[in-house]
Amino acid sequence: MAYALITGASKGIGKALALELAAAGTPLVLVARSKDILQQLSAEIGLNHKVDIKVFAIDLLSEQAPEKIYAWCVEQQLQVGMLINNAGVGVYGKFASSSIDKQVSMLALNQEVMVKLTYLFIPLLQQAGKAHILNVSSTAAFQSMPYFSVYAATKSFVLSFSRALRQELKRKKINVSCLCPGPTDSSFFDEAGYEGVGNDINYVKMTPEAVAKSALRGLEYEYAVIIPGFSNKIGAVLSRILPEGLTVKAVSYLFRPR
Ligand SMILES: NC(=O)c1ccc[n+]([C@@H]2O[C@H](COP(=O)([O-])OP(=O)(O)OC[C@H]3O[C@@H](n4cnc5c(N)ncnc54)[C@H](OP(=O)(O)O)[C@@H]3O)[C@@H](O)[C@H]2O)c1
Repeated sequence: MAYALITGASKGIGKALALELAAAGTPLVLVARSKDILQQLSAEIGLNHKVDIKVFAIDLLSEQAPEKIYAWCVEQQLQVGMLINNAGVGVYGKFASSSIDKQVSMLALNQEVMVKLTYLFIPLLQQAGKAHILNVSSTAAFQSMPYFSVYAATKSFVLSFSRALRQELKRKKINVSCLCPGPTDSSFFDEAGYEGVGNDINYVKMTPEAVAKSALRGLEYEYAVIIPGFSNKIGAVLSRILPEGLTVKAVSYLFRPR
């Protein structure tokens, strides 16, 4: 069986996807910076499932990281049939007083790394027969988001790119799906600097496990866009039909710094 390569597999949504795929018997390549956590996860999976797990610890923002991952997979002669571009970060706060270095690193991780990995792995995926690319975007992709301004823009990029690539790769028998979770209970908000004001959205947060289940169900049906959870689906519809100005004001009110 072909491997699923998951970036950002050490925690949150990536880890939940790894556990779900392993339970379904899919061998995995787990990628993130935290080697110890990845090895621990690999051992944990090994206790319950008979699947091969490879760990590749790397900072995706380090020089030539996507190329190194690709070269390693080729060297190991791994047949990769699923690429899950999940690693991503957010930066919360007023843009003008935020750290531009953090914003630029986020652009690189959320967009460039995803594009490069996708580009490099297409030939390998093609060899797998039927293959999948799952790009992790967000419901943030559906409207502009004050105080998450650059983050939301990166996720719109992921969504737009995925939709276009889906069409291009149809003939190559590579399905491209884009996962758009809403607020999810992971370390994402703390890492983004949203701690302290995050309680407002705690009641709508889904678990990473529920997001992962929904993602894999959506992949089975090869949906173009997968939106886990009923309220997130409603939100996506509303952002399409409500006037843009109103949506942005509402988001601004919800996420304003207190
Ligand atoms: N949580 C939400 O509310 C939410 C909603 C919509 C979309 N998303 C998206 O879902 C994806 C996963 O987020 P999450 O919620 O699961 O967040 P998370 O728990 O913070 O996980 C982020 C993952 O990315 C990895 N990562 C971060 N920077 C990296 C780097 N430079 N190199 C390699 N790996 C790196 C982290 O591993 P290491 O720290 O070990 O490197 C971790 O495994 C992201 O793309 C995020 O934008 C999240």
